[in-house]
Amino acid sequence: MSIQIGIIMGSDSDLPVMSEAAKVLDELQLEYELTVVSAHRTPKRLYSYAESAVGRGIKVIIAGAGGAAHLPGMVASLTPLPVIGVPVKSSTMSGTDSLYSIVQMPPGVPVATVAINGSKNAGILAAQIIGASNTEVLKRVEAFKANMEQSVLDKASRLEDVGFKSYLSNS
Ligand code: RP5
Repeated sequence: MSIQIGIIMGSDSDLPVMSEAAKVLDELQLEYELTVVSAHRTPKRLYSYAESAVGRGIKVIIAGAGGAAHLPGMVASLTPLPVIGVPVKSSTMSGTDSLYSIVQMPPGVPVATVAINGSKNAGILAAQIIGASNTEVLKRVEAFKANMEQSVLDKASRLEDVGFKSYLSNS
């Protein structure tokens, strides 16, 4: 399968947050391209990235940015592909600036916005979008969710067995 997921971010300083999307896609065995595209510092690159995405076989774009976070919305304005926006936590406003910048899109240009620093969910959502038309990928998403469920059940069981003091001292 060719690369169908694009992960872009406004700055390399977003990478620690945005790498969580890449990690979960690794876990789901889905390939992706990952790079920096800045709406404000490299506007020409933003245009060429967004306008070439369909032709390169990309099906969904994850775009993360912080502060005056125009990258996801501008990419969404330039491509018919679904765009998932990740508001990156900023140092001055704790990411509320990023969140509002990304989530308040005008009718007609949606961006599927996840939580502040929620790039893991962005990766899972991208896999689900691909999985909607790919049974093999959908099965991997189902297995991922089943593992998550089992892990919570295992924790609940251990907590019930050992009690909260022992649980906390061993975690
Ligand atoms: C945004 O400005 C980036 O997405 C980043 O979150 C923020 C700060 O960028 P740097 O000054 O760290 O490069 O465009």
